[in-house]
Amino acid sequence: MTQQQNKVQWIYSSQNEAELEQRYDQWAKDYDQDLGQDFGWIGPQIAANILARFVQPDRRILDAGAGTGLVGEVLAQQGFHNLVAMDLSRGMLEEARRKKVYQQLHQMKLGGPLDFSTGEFDAVISVGVLTLGHAPASSLDELVRITKPGGYIVFTLRPDIYETGGFKEQQQALEAQGAWKLVEASEQFQPLPKGEPDVYHQVWVYQVTR
Ligand SMILES: C[S@@+](CC[C@H](N)C(=O)[O-])C[C@H]1O[C@@H](n2cnc3c(N)ncnc32)[C@H](O)[C@@H]1O
Repeated sequence: MTQQQNKVQWIYSSQNEAELEQRYDQWAKDYDQDLGQDFGWIGPQIAANILARFVQPDRRILDAGAGTGLVGEVLAQQGFHNLVAMDLSRGMLEEARRKKVYQQLHQMKLGGPLDFSTGEFDAVISVGVLTLGHAPASSLDELVRITKPGGYIVFTLRPDIYETGGFKEQQQALEAQGAWKLVEASEQFQPLPKGEPDVYHQVWVYQVTR
């Protein structure tokens, strides 16, 4: 087992949110090298490319669980310049700040109320965050609230977690309530082709309807 695989398991073995935050704080400086370079993490590129098909570059976008800012970096390369980052980990946000692609950065937690106004964003993107031990399915309620009617919410999910982590029920409930409608669910892809070839992700795209 490589050191990086240990690092991912170490993150996933966090016993609670405080420990998760602390571990991301500690990982922050090496994250881009470990996950981005060594594991071949392509989630940010794939999800950002999908978002860019639906949202104009001048729109205000929240990167929810922005981490070190890999998603913001890809969006900035595509001309997006009205980007806001939020994340649980201050250490990760400090790395994101260095990328100079976000207008604002906020330490905040998905899963509870968010300190953003209703309809504040034209779109939300969340990559590698909605998953077990990280942000729960209930986080989606607040993401819908802070997105304008007609705006988009784009996020990655593991297909197994979609089924077992409460996401399927939550996503369908929001649709049944008329809060959003499904626009697209991508093909499954390997987000970590070099480091974890057995892991798959899907990108979900919803449009907020109220
Ligand atoms: C695997 S990283 C993904 C970071 C970035 N989106 C990317 O694609 O590289 C997961 C991020 O989610 C953050 N996170 C975990 N649980 C969270 C929560 N409940 N609220 C906000 N951020 C959370 C972590 O601090 C970490 O930065």
